[in-house]
Amino acid sequence: MCGIVGAVSQRNIVPILIEGLKRLEYRGYDSCGVAVHQAGELRRSRSTSRVAELDTLVAADRVEGFTGIAHTRWATHGAPAVHNAHPHFSHGPGEDAYTARPGRIALVHNGIIENHDELRAELRAKGYVFTSQTDTEVIAHLIDQLYDGDLFDAVKRATLQLKGAYAIAVFCRDEPHRVVGAREGSPLVLGVGTMEGATENFLASDAMALAGVTDQIIYLEEGDVVDLQLGKYWIESAHGAEVRGRYARVERPVRTVQAHTGAAELGPYRHYMQKEIFEQPRAVGDTLSGVESITPELFGDGAYAVFKDIEQVLILACGTSYYAGSTAKYWLESIAKIPTSVEIASEYRYRDSVPHPKTLVVTISQSGETADTIAALKHARALGMPHTLTICNVATSAMVRECKLAYITHAGVEIGVASTKAFTTQLAGLFLLTLALAQVRGHLTDEQEAAHVKAMRHLPVALQAVLALEPQVIAWAEEFARKENALFLGRGLHYPIALEGALKLKEISYIHAEAYPAGELKHGPLALVTAAMPVVTVAPNDTLLEKLKSNLQEVRARGGELFVFADADTHIESEPGIHVIRMPEHYGPLSPILHVVPLQLLAYHTACARGTDVDKPRNLAKSVTVE
Ligand code: G6P
Repeated sequence: MCGIVGAVSQRNIVPILIEGLKRLEYRGYDSCGVAVHQAGELRRSRSTSRVAELDTLVAADRVEGFTGIAHTRWATHGAPAVHNAHPHFSHGPGEDAYTARPGRIALVHNGIIENHDELRAELRAKGYVFTSQTDTEVIAHLIDQLYDGDLFDAVKRATLQLKGAYAIAVFCRDEPHRVVGAREGSPLVLGVGTMEGATENFLASDAMALAGVTDQIIYLEEGDVVDLQLGKYWIESAHGAEVRGRYARVERPVRTVQAHTGAAELGPYRHYMQKEIFEQPRAVGDTLSGVESITPELFGDGAYAVFKDIEQVLILACGTSYYAGSTAKYWLESIAKIPTSVEIASEYRYRDSVPHPKTLVVTISQSGETADTIAALKHARALGMPHTLTICNVATSAMVRECKLAYITHAGVEIGVASTKAFTTQLAGLFLLTLALAQVRGHLTDEQEAAHVKAMRHLPVALQAVLALEPQVIAWAEEFARKENALFLGRGLHYPIALEGALKLKEISYIHAEAYPAGELKHGPLALVTAAMPVVTVAPNDTLLEKLKSNLQEVRARGGELFVFADADTHIESEPGIHVIRMPEHYGPLSPILHVVPLQLLAYHTACARGTDVDKPRNLAKSVTVE
């Protein structure tokens, strides 16, 4: 989703801005742009193509400068078009928006301004000209209107009028060595320059954008406004000031962050998604490494007291992370015997619910920056549920900072928009949480603990065996590529796995796919079953196997074609209309972690056969930092 980079320096910062955008590219975007202070004017280049194309454009246009901002945009207000791409310039009264001479404020923005209509009407009445359909342009004009020779002051006054979520970076034609940033509801970090004798400072929506430039990072907090100049910075906050609406100076700690140095090499793989599917043995191994025995302290200091106090679990997440939570509910209720509910974050935050103070609120997030999940967490806390824990892949993310307890998965940076290794590592973390809660609640004997730990250790090897099924899955994928619909079935804790399989297929191959608990088939989806409808089924050898077999007969009787991932001892055999791929042997409760892998491979190879942009599926973003 949208990304921001900004810089004040004594060297040409355009290469740094472009490199920063490249590091943020994997999040998904549909246009990009850069603006600098050059020869006393604002200069910019914008593109609806890739950052590489923008790079060519800035070189051709000779866009260079010591102060500037850059952006990747994921369209919310206004189509993905050059005139809607950021940076936006102000066009004050008397300034002709369509001539070469732009206004004096340049601005980039992540988030959504909810009162943009109201502000636009007021600014239009004052003579401001709008050249885009974005909510962002309103902020540029508003700052221009409030500007009285001090950009920091104008930004502070402007933010007091904004409703919604934002992270912004702004500079002004009349103050060549200054960039101002502000955040409320969207992440923004300040990077302190580290070059010898450096006087430069940076802004970014994610520390990763500054990898290789600086590792000295300040995570700005909600309500912060930051003034970046050569050799100095200054932060003020609107929150915590004695008088509402006033700003007060604040100190924020500088952290040394080992940001990943950008997109990893693809190696022998065609796409990052394929690489990430194949990294799962390593990722799950790393996530569980060092776990010799189960203890609540794996989740942070004070976890024992929290786990002892709670009576129920509430899981909040979006997308694939939500399906990880849905799987964990089965584990938590059957192994730890603790009542668990799982909610889609964007729904939970807006519905009336009944809070219980003895709830462990668990958020699950790959990025740790998903706006809906963060808002749902804050909502739960505001309802009086103080016990918070996150399962997250980014140790420096807002989610980890917001939660009291955390388990960091070690999937490594996930580039493919469709989540794979993040999912299986989340499941590994959630299984550990289940065992820790079971232990504290007296539902885990030493023998059970030893058996579970042994099975977890075996996971990398078991995953490797599942990955060896790839050639068989490719054969199926060639057939799937010609379909327009698919149905996925699972039962029990494999129902969320069927949901995840259907999500993967629709995300990257654009085939319409739905998942159902197999027992629900006869209540509706059976009407869709014809010879043209492939029905993918996850068939582990569990207590529901015989029931699942009956459901499969219901499909066969209607001429439906079955594609079954079956455990060795299920006695489901290939026959006309039934295709079977046999899963390697594995350990009962962990089987969702293994069964999801062939579904990832099926989606991946089907998408390849259809020739879609696998790592950057249309309309989707990696980190969804807006509502
Ligand atoms: C986006 C991504 C999904 C991800 C979801 C939640 O939709 O494309 O892959 O599952 O956001 O993201 P999170 O970072 O919170 O896990």
